[in-house]
Amino acid sequence: MPSAANRLKAVAREAAGCTRCPLYRHATQTVFGEGPPDAALMLVGEQPGDQEDRAGRPFVGPAGAALDRALAAAGIPRETAYITNAVKHFKNEPRGKKRLHRRPNRGEVEVCRVWLQREIALVEPRLILALGVTAAVALCGRSVVISRLRGRVIEFEDGRRGMVTAHPSAILRMPDEAARREAFLGLVKDLKAAARSAAGASA
Ligand code: URA
Repeated sequence: MPSAANRLKAVAREAAGCTRCPLYRHATQTVFGEGPPDAALMLVGEQPGDQEDRAGRPFVGPAGAALDRALAAAGIPRETAYITNAVKHFKNEPRGKKRLHRRPNRGEVEVCRVWLQREIALVEPRLILALGVTAAVALCGRSVVISRLRGRVIEFEDGRRGMVTAHPSAILRMPDEAARREAFLGLVKDLKAAARSAAGASA
């Protein structure tokens, strides 16, 4: 039986050729998850952004920098978590030289769920933290309001233990420093709770 690491690599190779929805047409490449194949904590974002699309790695652009700062403040080494996205291609609208970020719709999230489910089945994390509403919808299988669910362990649609929090990019969109600080501290608190729960303690 191949190891989980090899099976993940095989799934990543399969996902690299994914044309299940039209998003691949305007993207450079599939951005698959990365991290230890036996990670206790899995973080799921929305979709790769412009920089992730070029680099082929999740959370390496501005939202990734915000996530990295929050992980460091929470005392979680990034390389201990498995980090992925609900949607594996960058949804964008070409506008001159720029590519404008577009939020994936429910159909695109649904079609792409097959890759996320396979990552989850292989990694078997003890806790999955959904970063933002797109990931939360993909994992809960229904509409969700983050502010109503955040801060506690819930059961995702597949029966796995999960938590939801705001997307790190929300910090960057806040209008002033005080609001940015508050959003940052909220993310750090949720990351700490998720890591505690993934380590076996209750959140
Ligand atoms: N935003 C996400 O949700 N995922 C990334 O990988 C980058 C930005």
